[in-house]
Amino acid sequence: MGFWKSLFSVTDSVETAQKTRLRQVKTPTSQIFFSTDRNIDLYELEELCDSVGWARRPIRKVRKAIEHSFVVITIREQRGSFNRLIGFARATSDRAFNATIWDVVVHPEFQGRGLGKALMQEVVKELRRADISNISLFADAHVVDFYRQLGFNADPEGIKGMFWYPP
Ligand SMILES: CC(C)(COP(=O)(O)OP(=O)(O)OC[C@H]1O[C@@H](n2cnc3c(N)ncnc32)[C@H](O)[C@@H]1OP(=O)(O)O)[C@@H](O)C(=O)NCCC(=O)NCCS
Repeated sequence: MGFWKSLFSVTDSVETAQKTRLRQVKTPTSQIFFSTDRNIDLYELEELCDSVGWARRPIRKVRKAIEHSFVVITIREQRGSFNRLIGFARATSDRAFNATIWDVVVHPEFQGRGLGKALMQEVVKELRRADISNISLFADAHVVDFYRQLGFNADPEGIKGMFWYPP
């Protein structure tokens, strides 16, 4: 029974991977896959966020955030039998007009090779496919130009992002 269960779950995950796969990039030593598969090891995601120095967040809240996201894109590197998460982004949405992109990250070892740009293009493509045209994000100061290059405007027509935090 255990054997069949494990066989089916492998088949399921292969099918899910095929259904959810977006673009694929070949490097001399590995393959890189973009996917909408939400079956994410949250500890692996935490490691990825650690690698860029982000503050840790409770895993249960990250799980909830992903469950309630409209678009989730991951980038994985496949090197032989070794497979790891190297990029991630997600977007929340009202599913009609507006979406906001969150948690855009590429592992430092893979930065500067066009993966961040491709990741953002995939998120925007998925949102446009759902006919969402008002796409926003909150850029850290050091990445404003990264997003600007991708067509995002800071303060369009003077509009300011405003935040409320608990006193
Ligand atoms: C921001 C980040 C996702 C970019 O990913 P990346 O894979 O390194 O970016 P790319 O290689 O696709 O770069 C695409 C273009 O943006 C430029 N770019 C990349 N990072 C940039 C930055 N911080 N500032 C300005 N331009 C940047 C690149 O030079 C490249 O320009 P080109 O097309 O003219 O060559 C990545 O650096 C990262 O994960 N940083 C840490 C997490 C973070 O700060 N996320 C954003 C939170 S708001």
